[in-house]
Amino acid sequence: MASKRVEELISSMSLEEKLGEMTQLAPFFFGVDESMDLTGPMAELGLQEEDIKYIGSTLNSFGAEKNIAMQKKHMAEQPHGIPLLFMADVIHGFRTIFPIPLAMGCSFQPAACEKAAEVAAKESTAAGIQLTFAPMADLVRDPRWGRVMESPGEDPYLNARMTEAAVKGFQGEDPREKGRMAACVKHFAGYGAAEGGRDYNTVDLSDGILREFYLPAYHAGIDAGAKMVMTSFNIMNRIPAGASKMLFDQILRKEWGFTGTVISDFAAANETIIHGYAKDGAEAAQRYIQAGCDIEMMSSHYIHHGKELLEQGKLSMEEIDRSVRHILTLKEELGLFENPFKDADPEAEKALALCDEHRAAARDVARKSVVLLKNEGVLPLDSKKKGLKIGLAGPFATSRNVLGGWAGTGSHVSTLEMGMQEMFPDAELVTAMTEELGAMQEGIFDVEDRVEETCKALRNCDVILAAVGENPMDTGEAASRTCLRLSPNQEKLLYELHKLGKPVVMILFSGRPLEIRPVLPYADAVVQAWFLGTEAGTALADILSGAYNPSGRLSISFPQTVGQIPVYYNHYRTGRPLGSAEGRYVSRYLDCPNEPLFPFGYGLSYARYQYSGFQVAVDQDGILTKVTVENISNTAGVETVQCYTHDLAGSVVRPVMELKAFQQVELAPHQKQGVTFRITREMLRFPNDRSEFVFEPGEFEIMVGHSSSEVLTGKVSLDA
Ligand code: BGC
Repeated sequence: MASKRVEELISSMSLEEKLGEMTQLAPFFFGVDESMDLTGPMAELGLQEEDIKYIGSTLNSFGAEKNIAMQKKHMAEQPHGIPLLFMADVIHGFRTIFPIPLAMGCSFQPAACEKAAEVAAKESTAAGIQLTFAPMADLVRDPRWGRVMESPGEDPYLNARMTEAAVKGFQGEDPREKGRMAACVKHFAGYGAAEGGRDYNTVDLSDGILREFYLPAYHAGIDAGAKMVMTSFNIMNRIPAGASKMLFDQILRKEWGFTGTVISDFAAANETIIHGYAKDGAEAAQRYIQAGCDIEMMSSHYIHHGKELLEQGKLSMEEIDRSVRHILTLKEELGLFENPFKDADPEAEKALALCDEHRAAARDVARKSVVLLKNEGVLPLDSKKKGLKIGLAGPFATSRNVLGGWAGTGSHVSTLEMGMQEMFPDAELVTAMTEELGAMQEGIFDVEDRVEETCKALRNCDVILAAVGENPMDTGEAASRTCLRLSPNQEKLLYELHKLGKPVVMILFSGRPLEIRPVLPYADAVVQAWFLGTEAGTALADILSGAYNPSGRLSISFPQTVGQIPVYYNHYRTGRPLGSAEGRYVSRYLDCPNEPLFPFGYGLSYARYQYSGFQVAVDQDGILTKVTVENISNTAGVETVQCYTHDLAGSVVRPVMELKAFQQVELAPHQKQGVTFRITREMLRFPNDRSEFVFEPGEFEIMVGHSSSEVLTGKVSLDA
């Protein structure tokens, strides 16, 4: 039951008002950016100027002054003075940009993710935004999919922790509070499982796989109180996801008790026709509304067909009212009836954008997101050494294009070169071949070959940093790739630099795991830099100099080659696993190992850690595991201790490993610390073949260690 105000409004609203409330349009339609153009998008959606006054929300309209003006005008025209709701994609920062979500997943620090969301909420609410289309909770096992950059990674548990942290960061205790905003968990559901990694492609997942791997992160976001859920573009088991009653009515609303608002993805309701699921706009509207989608984003079938569907008895007023109730309640929860501008404030907008405090937070999260993949005695570099000659080559050496997709209105980027200049004031930096890499999106596949002159210019350097990768435009939405190698001239650069006989540090800027096996031998150290945002340069200089000891761990496996995809750590066992039998008939590749190049949870540090005293015991509450971690080096560091389980036999097969918990411990040189994990029966539940989450007694392996491939293992039996 909604509030009295909401119920009263619903009972006095016209059908046009209700259907308008259920429609979201871009700011263009409100005549703010450009004058109304009845031949452009307006005509494409078949809308008239008078339809606009009923519209309930808009997307990606930025700027306090503009949004305040738009709100005033709109409320004056809306018959009940109902305020617009301003939504936007505030994904990893707004003006101060944080690392892409995949990188933040690698921090293994939900608090870092929460901080990033909190800062993004402060900056964007001041600029007139009230709800963000984030976090994206889609689990991904396929780095060919461009949107892997927006996901925390491949693991249901880690993704769940990151998703709930982001929701908390955006919403705080109450999204109505100043500087907080409503969060939208997306894309429900399974968008990350697109076949072949091609965006928008078919998704077909058994109920068991869906519930075991793909759903937990969305669920965690809902449990954390997210106010909105967005549908996804893909079909799920032959039905467009947003039209799936199974997903929205059964799982989201009935099983998880979600009471918030559902929004379609961009024109996704219309795409049910293109999918060949709805025969026309009327059927698209009917199916989307009946599955439970309250707001249609950027298509207009609700507006055009709502009336006829009601008249034909294909839709009931109760179904329409249910949606309007969700939307008005959301507006009420954001306090918009009292203060329709929420936190929009031109002064605060200016003061908060890129302020020192936010930049410091971005730098901190950025350095925690970097993963050191290889280090053969090269790093850290000595920032105090006078006259150190550092070569800096490659398309990301001096580039500002390191924010990653969805970077809002980010600017003022610290480049790698700037970060190095600041951190290494006494060093000589020599740059070469720093032209930016164009985007495949724009038909450019490589940088110019200037390898020979670059090698000449850098041959006397003490160390060479090769800043290589992919253009951020080639990651994100509609940016799938089949070849994940570096462009040929970047590979050539690494190969030739290596021949100079000087230590080469490869710094990889990418929105996905790239296939770096071919160039790995030519780099003495490899730093996975992702797209780190505004403070990319300073954060990387922190890492390279050792001012910050790398602590990031991979939240997604790096394949040896594209042919291995999908390759992920928490797979099921085959009946013929490698090593189980002599001879040919085992599950393997003839030309490549089964293991990824770098596994989930992997990441190096400048410190070394030793595990000892591993104990596993059972008590009435479940399993208790203890281990002692010692820093056996002279460098302080942060170790991420990971705890995995393996259920040896179940009524359905169980993954070989499942992350159940992790803890970060900060260790001074030679310091030891005990780490305890408690694994309850509740944590060992899984969906059985009737989709019920059950705990099944039996034997379990408990694994604790540094990554998914470096663990200590114990075995216990657990009764019911
Ligand atoms: C994306 C969503 C995004 C929406 C609005 C769509 O294309 O899939 O993630 O929130 O656009 O910008």
